[in-house]
Amino acid sequence: RRLVVLVSGSGTNLQALLDEIAATGTEAYGAEVVAVGADREGIEGLARAERAGLPTFVCKVKDHPVREEWDAALAEAVAAYEPDLVVSAGFMKIVGKEFLARFGGRFVNTHPALLPSFPGAHGVRDALAYGAKVTGCTVHFVDDGVDTGPIIAQGVVEVRDEDDESALHERIKEVERKLLVEVVGRLARNGYRIEGRKVVIQ
Ligand code: GRF
Repeated sequence: RRLVVLVSGSGTNLQALLDEIAATGTEAYGAEVVAVGADREGIEGLARAERAGLPTFVCKVKDHPVREEWDAALAEAVAAYEPDLVVSAGFMKIVGKEFLARFGGRFVNTHPALLPSFPGAHGVRDALAYGAKVTGCTVHFVDDGVDTGPIIAQGVVEVRDEDDESALHERIKEVERKLLVEVVGRLARNGYRIEGRKVVIQ
């Protein structure tokens, strides 16, 4: 299976996928990362891809006066690599109709909170501010909402009294990276069906 991974930041989820595939081998894992895309230049996620010898592409919103054109350009850039599965690993843009028309049902996102709680760009901060005692991470298929698609798997992380946002996020990411690697491998190896809000992995 061919994976395209989309990043916007440090890329530690991407790195976890690359490390797992390198350790277990593409055959055993069931997938390989064929390209990495981003919405901005100069991020560690792209540097990680380059160090791994992978092709990269950048689609900047500001290069497209019309948002739908950015969405179409991103879809084109991803389609060029003929992915079986697209993985948003800290990609911080909302894709639109064109992208979902082409990749819906095979576009997975990881979110650092227990959806449906705390969707959006500040899930860790929001859980902390709310006083949640547990939070965690969610791997889900992307639909036309924000962090609202069918949930594939979740991991629970306790919130500690002394936590600030970055400490909590780091602890969430330890769980999240393992969850993403496990889920992507199972989706790739076993195949899956999406039945309404349920995801059935064979
Ligand atoms: C992850 O926790 C992801 O859920 C959130 O941002 C973080 C990205 O981390 N959207 P990285 O870029 O994979 O290190």
